[in-house]
Amino acid sequence: MSALTDSPEWQALVQHQAALSKRPLNALFRDNPDRFARFSLNTDGLILDFSKNHVDAQAIDLFGNLAKKVGLEEAVEAMFSGDVINNTEQRPALHAALRSPEDQSENGQVVHQTLNRMATFVDAVIRWQWQGYSGSPITDVVNIGIGGSDLGPAMVYTALSDFHLDGIRCHFVSNVDPAHLEETLEPLDPETTLFVIASKTFTTMETMLNARAAKRWLLKACNGSASEKSALAKHFVAISANVEKAVEFGIPGENIFPMWDWVGGRYSLWSAIGLPVALGIGMDNFRALLAGAHNMDKHFRATPAAQNIPVMMALLDCWYQNFFAAESRVVLPYSQQLHLFPAYLQQLDMESLGKSVTKDGAPIDVDTGGIVWGSAGTNGQHSFHQLLHQGTHLIPADFIAISETASSNKEQHLQLLANCFAQSQALMDGKSLEAATAELLNRGMSEAEAARLAPHKVIPGNRPSTTLLLDKLSPQSLGSLIACYEHKVFARSVILGINAFDQWGVELGKVLSTGIHDELVNDGETSKFDGSTNALINRCK
Ligand code: F6P
Repeated sequence: MSALTDSPEWQALVQHQAALSKRPLNALFRDNPDRFARFSLNTDGLILDFSKNHVDAQAIDLFGNLAKKVGLEEAVEAMFSGDVINNTEQRPALHAALRSPEDQSENGQVVHQTLNRMATFVDAVIRWQWQGYSGSPITDVVNIGIGGSDLGPAMVYTALSDFHLDGIRCHFVSNVDPAHLEETLEPLDPETTLFVIASKTFTTMETMLNARAAKRWLLKACNGSASEKSALAKHFVAISANVEKAVEFGIPGENIFPMWDWVGGRYSLWSAIGLPVALGIGMDNFRALLAGAHNMDKHFRATPAAQNIPVMMALLDCWYQNFFAAESRVVLPYSQQLHLFPAYLQQLDMESLGKSVTKDGAPIDVDTGGIVWGSAGTNGQHSFHQLLHQGTHLIPADFIAISETASSNKEQHLQLLANCFAQSQALMDGKSLEAATAELLNRGMSEAEAARLAPHKVIPGNRPSTTLLLDKLSPQSLGSLIACYEHKVFARSVILGINAFDQWGVELGKVLSTGIHDELVNDGETSKFDGSTNALINRCK
């Protein structure tokens, strides 16, 4: 037992869980048909409906007590004030400053200078004033980056396809697998292609190798018609906190947009890492994305726990993972444009919360980050939803739905919404043995046949889900949605007492890959590693 799990606040939740888990979700609705009004929250065009969860008024009060016990309000204030909350790297986590219009601090000033530089650059590119080595305008932007330097921008660019500017297309290359870059470049014209090399450290192996391959592709096409220096100046820009390395690569200082230590990679979409998004949707829309996130920041900072959307989401995560023993959570955007959202969320959530020790290095005695997975609805309905409905695991679901569509095919959009709401209803209500049997008998089946088949048709139900409903998918609402999940992750880390802003676990594999690569390029069999690793290397040789 730790100070957290031993506390009266935690233990009160343990007891309440035991009582509440005996009351099926649909019985809670029968007792109180107005649950939606009591158990939903909204801000800035975004509704959180958490009424189909195992919660009641007492649970919310107990959640509030836990939030107080862990000092959530103070921790939120410490984050916004720039305290050094990333204690293993001695850094603040100031991603909210990237979208704060009124920040006059030193950091705030560099943020706004950078946004203004981005605006000038975006303007030059989209007005065709920025020209490639042959004098042609830029039609294709290839972002080369990985992790936070890829997932956020790629997801936002894809989600905001209704806002794409004519005449410019963005592409995202992340994988060290050469096929990724080659496939992307295959249809592109070097004369009209701009590379954005996005890397906070400018040392990430995947990004550096892809950037070098992109440079070779450009210079080969250029074939001496421009010097390497001038070709790179016209076709390469960088976003990095490591200016020296970017210059060493050959990118001129004026093409380098800064990043700062106080922004973590997975929280960096709002910085110049968002440049490909700004090039794809225009700077005004990029600023609207920031404004939406800022609205969520204000909500998160100023709203008491019981009405605070990210805090409630964090408490629900904690509720299911630590009190109901759920191991994963499925995220189901009912929006094809948001199909990359689960992948983006995996890094945000699992890289932030996948920790085994508390901030002071003590082993933690509860489960930390859960497994986040999912894909766009309705596709999942024809694949993994079977497991959600009839499998043996408890998997809380986050549905994300959009009320209005920009598509002219309104009828099809209504089908999408109907399916989303039906899935959360089916998860909650399920189908009893009696109902399944009656259905079969009504279809004319014999009693014996019906009895044989009915158990297979039973759907246990009582499976919780939360629905986030956005009025529409716009830069502003998307900004709010993303910031909402960022803050949820932070609030959850505070409840657990862990650091959400480091990621030491990713280092070991990177180091080991260097030794293995050395063996792969050397002649002769290796016997340096364990038997499995040796055999795999030798087989490839
Ligand atoms: O390896 C993990 C990681 O450090 C992520 O946290 C980060 O988003 C990604 O690599 C890319 O890092 P960089 O922007 O420095 O290339």
